[in-house]
Amino acid sequence: MKVFTTSRQVAGHYEKCSCKRPGFVPTMGALHEGHLSLVKSAILKSPMVAVSIFVNPTQFNDSEDLKKYPRTPEEDLSMLAGIMRENDFVFMPSVDEVYPGPDLRAFDFGRLDKVMEGLHRPGHFNGVAQVVSRLFDIIKPSYAFFGQKDFQQLTIIKELAKRSYPEITIVACPIKREKDGLAMSSRNKRLLPAHREKAGEIYKTLKKVAEMARHKEIDELKKIVSTTISKIPGFRLEYFEIADDVSLAPLKNKSEMKLSRKYYACIALFAGDVRLIDNLRISLR
Ligand code: PAF
Repeated sequence: MKVFTTSRQVAGHYEKCSCKRPGFVPTMGALHEGHLSLVKSAILKSPMVAVSIFVNPTQFNDSEDLKKYPRTPEEDLSMLAGIMRENDFVFMPSVDEVYPGPDLRAFDFGRLDKVMEGLHRPGHFNGVAQVVSRLFDIIKPSYAFFGQKDFQQLTIIKELAKRSYPEITIVACPIKREKDGLAMSSRNKRLLPAHREKAGEIYKTLKKVAEMARHKEIDELKKIVSTTISKIPGFRLEYFEIADDVSLAPLKNKSEMKLSRKYYACIALFAGDVRLIDNLRISLR
């Protein structure tokens, strides 16, 4: 496995190897089994794999959140060294390498980035689109792998690729969970022990409402989720919505559900000062 910090080094590597379009896994580091499962999927599909580790400042709407985001570069590299092959590489650029000047691009995703995460984290998806497009330009992948935990991000990146990078196939990979159901996330490292102990309730709540969704109205489901979460000490619900993975429009009534669409129960909450998100597919049949 090679480690590069500049786009020049990446281009030089491509010149040396015969394979030029890798499978690509973009990350912000603090790697866990969820990331490794993306890398393993990429390895199965591509003769060469690139993993980027870059904590992108433009997608943080809260500077404290950016400061506190976990950074574990040595551990990340040793985890990747255990699975990556000789010509695979890790790209760990500086902020100046990714953004040689201020990135003033404003992406218009219509309604896709105005709901859920987009509503609560203004500018977040513009920053994600900025960095992903910069990384796509540098890495020039054939496939790019994203986790389904970031449900809305995945839909927005598919839209970005459809518009501007039709040569890149976006591969959605399933959420990896801890034994108690907590979705794996770099942010879990920051949970207080008391909050970590209760965090499995998030998945249990999603499972419960996903099972009820065929029979209960959306408002009732929202009430169940907010009551359950408010009973966990230190937890605060930010939103719970049911949305399909194409329009992302949160449903108001059960009657809006169409059998032809896939619906997901989506949640964002704070456990102490750690913001967590999760989602679960709802079966309509
Ligand atoms: O999902 C993430 O970790 C980030 O949003 C991404 C896609 C690496 C862009 O910084």
